[in-house]
Amino acid sequence: MARMDALSFIIVFLGLTAAVRAHNAAHFASRSSDGFAWSEARPLPTDNIRTAVNLAQISPSEALVWTRCYEDRECARLKVPLDYTNLQDASASIALIRIRAKVSHDSPRYRGPVLVNPGGPGESGVDFVRSVYGDLISVILGPEFDIVGFDPRGIARSTPAVSFFRSRAERALWFPGFTGQSLNASTDSRARTWAQGTLLGQLAGERDFDGSLKFINTENTARDILRIVEAYGRQKLMYWGFSYGTVLGATFAAMFPDKVERLVIDGVVDSEDWHAADWTHVFVDANRAWQSFADGCVAVGPSRCPFYASTTEELFSSVDAIQARLRKRPIPVHSTTEYGLVDFSLLRATIFQSLYSPYVMFPQLAHALAGMTEGDGTALFELHAKYGRKPFECACGEDEQDYSNIEAVWAVFCNDATRIPSDYDAFVKDYQSILAVSPFGDLATLKAGCLAWPDYPKASFRGPFTANTSFPLLIIGNTADPVTPLSGARNMSKGFMDSVLLTQDSAGHCSVSAPSLCTQKHVRAYFQEGELPPPGTVCDIDVEMFPSHTDDANLRVPSQQKVFHVPNRRSRTAQLSAEDIQLLDALRELATRVPRQQMFTF
Ligand SMILES: *[C@@H]1O[C@H](CO)[C@@H](O)[C@H](O)[C@H]1NC(C)=O
Ligand SMILES: *[C@@H]1O[C@H](CO)[C@@H](O)[C@H](O)[C@H]1NC(C)=O
Ligand SMILES: *[C@@H]1O[C@H](CO)[C@@H](O)[C@H](O)[C@H]1NC(C)=O
Repeated sequence: MARMDALSFIIVFLGLTAAVRAHNAAHFASRSSDGFAWSEARPLPTDNIRTAVNLAQISPSEALVWTRCYEDRECARLKVPLDYTNLQDASASIALIRIRAKVSHDSPRYRGPVLVNPGGPGESGVDFVRSVYGDLISVILGPEFDIVGFDPRGIARSTPAVSFFRSRAERALWFPGFTGQSLNASTDSRARTWAQGTLLGQLAGERDFDGSLKFINTENTARDILRIVEAYGRQKLMYWGFSYGTVLGATFAAMFPDKVERLVIDGVVDSEDWHAADWTHVFVDANRAWQSFADGCVAVGPSRCPFYASTTEELFSSVDAIQARLRKRPIPVHSTTEYGLVDFSLLRATIFQSLYSPYVMFPQLAHALAGMTEGDGTALFELHAKYGRKPFECACGEDEQDYSNIEAVWAVFCNDATRIPSDYDAFVKDYQSILAVSPFGDLATLKAGCLAWPDYPKASFRGPFTANTSFPLLIIGNTADPVTPLSGARNMSKGFMDSVLLTQDSAGHCSVSAPSLCTQKHVRAYFQEGELPPPGTVCDIDVEMFPSHTDDANLRVPSQQKVFHVPNRRSRTAQLSAEDIQLLDALRELATRVPRQQMFTF
C-alpha cells in the first residue's frame, strides 16, 4: 500500500506499513479461547524493543528457525541464493516475522502460513506484520493461520540491502530535492526532476559495491517466496498481496502455477504495464476518487463537510483557486510543535494521499481546505504532518527498526521495468501522456529514477501473466482506487484461469482502506473454505464518507455499542452477529491506519 509525502513524491502503490509505527497507539491481541476476540487493547512496546531479540541479531539459516521477537512475535532469517542461476555463489538473507496461529500447530484446525506483502515495492513486510496490521489481518483470516511477513530482498532488514547513500543524513538531504515537487509546481519542475532522476540512476550504479543490485527484482522475490513455503514444510503458497504485492503475487502464480493453495491480489497493478513501465493508465481512476470527494461533500452539506459548495463544479473551482494562490504565494505555518511552508506541492500531495484513504482523510481534508479559503494553512499543514512523510530524525540510538532505505523502490521498479528512454523530450512526452489520462499525472515522478539506471540485462520473468493455477486466484479491485484502477484487476483476472474478480464499491487504495464486511467475509471464506465469491460480486462498504462526527470517529465505533449504523446507500441497520461485530471492529481499525507515505508508491 504506498508511500507518499509532500516532500517526496513518487508514485508507486501501496505501502500499508510505513507509518504504522507512528500510529500504533494501541495493540490488539487475540485471545485464543475465542478465535475472533481480539480487542484487548494494551500499549505497544514498540519503542522498547531493544530489550528483546530483534531480527538483526538472528543469523540466517537454510531452515526456518523461529525465535521469539518483538514481544509476542516470532522471527527468522532464511538463507536463499542471491542468484538463482548460480546457486553456489553468494546468498541473500530474508528477514521473516510471524504471528502464530491461535490454534496449536498440532491441532487439526491448524491451516498453515499465509504470507502477506504490503506493496511499495520497498515496504517492509516485517514492519507490517509486526504492527497492529498483522493482528488485524489475523482477525480477518481467523485463528487457524499463521500470518507471515517478510522483507523482500533489498528491503529493510533483508540483505543485501539496497542503499545508494552513505548515511541516513545524506539520504534525507537528497530526497526532498528529488521528490519534493509536483511536476507542475513551477516552470522548471520537470527539468529538475529529470536531472535529479538521472543522478539517482548514476548513484545506483556507482554505489552497487558488491554487485548485488541486479538481483533485486520481483522474479527473485517470487523464488524466495517459494523457498519460504518449502522451508515451512508446505507444498503450496497461501498469500495476500496488496498493491505492488499484486505484481509479486501474479508473478508467483504465473511462474509456479501448481504451487498455489490460496492467492489473493488486492489493489491490482496491471503486471504487463508494470514491466513495460507504462504508467499511462495508472491514475485513470484517481479522478473518480477525487470526484467522490466533491460528490460526497455536496451531498452531505456544510454541517458535515466544511468545504461544502452547492455544486461539485463550484467546489472544484474553489480548489483551483486555492492551488493558484498557493502557487504564487506559499503560506508560512507555525503550529504548536512544527513550522514550515504550505505550498502547491504540499497541497497536491495531501489531496492525492487522501485518495488512498478517503474515509479517514476526506473529512480532515475538507476541514483543511475550508481553512485555506480563509488563508489559514494550519490544518492542511497538520494533516500533512500527520500522514505525510516522516520528518528526518537522527537515529542517535541506531534503533534496529529504523530502516530508511526507501531507494529500494527503484531497485525493484527499475530492474523489473523495460529500459526507458533517458532523454528529456521522451520524459516530458511520457508525462504528457499520463496527464492526458489524469490531472494527477503531475505526481508521477517515480519513473525518473530509472532514467540512467545501470544497463543490466532484462532477463527476469516479465510475463505472460497467464496460468492455470492449482487453485483459482481471488482478485480484488475497488471502483475508485487512485493508483490501481479496476481495469488492472480485470485485466489480470483474464489471465488466471477460473480466477474471480471481487469488486468493492468504494474509493481508496486496496480493499482494507474501507471497511466492508462483505469483502472481508469473502476473503475469509476463500482462505478458510476455499470458497470463491460468485463471479460479478460487488461489495458495498460499511462506512460513510462524511460522518456526522468529526475526524475519523465514524471508523471508531466501540465494540460495546452493539447497534451499528451501517449506512451506505442501502441504509441497512444491520443485525450483526457477534463475530461480524468483531470483524467490523477490526476492519474499522484497519481503515484508520493510514499509511504514512514516504512517497507515492504502490
Ligand atoms: C500546470 O500549471 C499551469 C500553470 O502554471 C496550469 O495552467 C495548468 O493547468 C497546470 N496543469 C495541470 C495538469 O495541472
Ligand atoms: C487446468 O489444470 C487442471 C489440473 O490442475 C486440469 O484438470 C485442467 O484440464 C486444466 N485446464 C486447462 C484448460 O488446461
Ligand atoms: C487493461 O487492458 C486494456 C486493454 O488492453 C487497456 O486498455 C487498459 O489500459 C488496461 N488497464 C490497465 C490498468 O492497464
